[in-house]
Amino acid sequence: MKQLKEKTKTFQQLEMLFEHDIYTFQHSLRVAELLFKMGIQLNMSEECQEELYQLGALHDIGKIRIPQTILNKEEHLTEQERKVLNQHTIYGFEILRHDKYSKEFLDGVIYHHENYDGTGYPYGISSFAEGIPVYAQILRVVDSFDAMTSNRSYKKAFSVEKALAEIESLKGIFYSPEVVDSFISMYWDNPHYLRWSY
Ligand SMILES: [Fe+2]
Repeated sequence: MKQLKEKTKTFQQLEMLFEHDIYTFQHSLRVAELLFKMGIQLNMSEECQEELYQLGALHDIGKIRIPQTILNKEEHLTEQERKVLNQHTIYGFEILRHDKYSKEFLDGVIYHHENYDGTGYPYGISSFAEGIPVYAQILRVVDSFDAMTSNRSYKKAFSVEKALAEIESLKGIFYSPEVVDSFISMYWDNPHYLRWSY
């Protein structure tokens, strides 16, 4: 019964995301699938693979608190709007922190826009100083790949090859070198994993 209640809550949260911003909903499902596959690629336990799937599905849940006018704005965001948007990592943590999630999972939500070199948000932590939690490092790469290869009203999608080259060029800057290497090997082993029809 407890498990069913927890699943129902996740569905309700995803339904809210669907209603609020269908792009983020679809993005989250693709990220969930790719994170799950990265769990396999990295030889993680089945429990971690499932946790990664759920993390992908819910990592941007904080966007339900961000106005649609900001989420779908076609022009460049102002500095103030970007600050509001960047709050979604903290909102996501706030929405999920009273549920049954592990610390690793919640760290993945809050730190998924932190960069390897400390130039990300919300806290600017780096792999050279405080260290970035592992789920957040994996999510950073998978999330960026999906964003790069998606069509938006304000930008055209990169091809898979162009996105991988871009990610490779930012290895050790934005992205963890180990995660980038695993992501690229996953592509070479299973190129169809990175191509979607939605
Ligand atoms: Fe995000």
